[in-house]
Amino acid sequence: MRVLAIETSCDDTAAAVLDDGGVRASIVASQDKVHGKYGGIVPELASRQHMVTILPVIERTLADAKVGLDDIEAVTATYGPGLVGSLLVGLQFAKGIAFSRGLPFVGVNHLEGHLLAILLDRPVAFPYLGLLVSGGHTSLYLVEDVGKYRQLGRTRDDAAGEAFDKGAKMLGLGFPGGREIDQRAKEGDRAAIRFPRASLKTGLYDFSFSGVKTSLRQYLLDGGKAELPDVCASFQEAIVDMLLAPTLKAARDLGATTIVVSGGVSANSRLRTAMTEVGNAAGFDVAFPRFAYCTDNAAMIGYAGRARLLRGERHDLTLNAAATLPIGVDA
Ligand code: KG4
Ligand code: ZN
Repeated sequence: MRVLAIETSCDDTAAAVLDDGGVRASIVASQDKVHGKYGGIVPELASRQHMVTILPVIERTLADAKVGLDDIEAVTATYGPGLVGSLLVGLQFAKGIAFSRGLPFVGVNHLEGHLLAILLDRPVAFPYLGLLVSGGHTSLYLVEDVGKYRQLGRTRDDAAGEAFDKGAKMLGLGFPGGREIDQRAKEGDRAAIRFPRASLKTGLYDFSFSGVKTSLRQYLLDGGKAELPDVCASFQEAIVDMLLAPTLKAARDLGATTIVVSGGVSANSRLRTAMTEVGNAAGFDVAFPRFAYCTDNAAMIGYAGRARLLRGERHDLTLNAAATLPIGVDA
């Protein structure tokens, strides 16, 4: 089944074509230049930019895949969670194509896309432990099957990506901040500053990142003198440590064999090294999607949507965008 997938949940306009042979084309048009000067995503601008980019992105994706709309057999798109104005552009476009061509359509939960993205690159046996770390989410799931996810823990405050982005803003770095901090941290000393690690008394597998953000602010207010790469490396190390601890605990407690890390922050080079080293030493297989499938993309939505379409699932064209959309056993 050849599927066209569309993803516009936040600030990237993305489309992909997938068939029995895997991903035929996957294009992501970033809006970083639009939002960069504001140091964060401006929802109204994101939605307008999607309107400008969606058609060229789809046309280029079809061209890259060397197919035309006539060759597409089903359509899928993200319908939540995310910015409603952004979601609506991709979702309505997808439904429009499905309607005009009489094609089957299914909506996909963005988080499900991230959790399954690894399967685009390699097989992983179910159940696996999924750490989802992005700009909007930081949660742990037991991934039991496509459509069967058990949430084990979540952040109590900021998402890890948000902590990176806010930290970068305080340090006068560009947006999105995670990548900026990651780059500078490469030349820095991880032990230069000891930022506190939050450990929660309740919620075994929960996370908290507001404390580390506050301690960075306090450090800067106090006139901290460390070099920028050292501050970046130390701040990053604190976030990485706080991601590692609950994840390894959950993996041990649940007897998981594989830990899969996904979402934009899974592109972080230190997280990749540390999780792999610590996880492997504890006997777990640790897997990260390739970089292009860590941050937002439509290939992962295509994977999840295609799996659902193949087992006969359909949404009718009244499906609406949902700003919040939990995933659970029926997602
Ligand atoms: O998954 P994603 O593209 O969008 C959301 O669904 O949120 O994640 C975006 C987040 C941003 O907070 C960005 O700073 C972070 O991923 N990010 C990184 C890196 N690359 C992107 N964080 C740390 N290190 C990176 N290399
Ligand atoms: Zn995402």
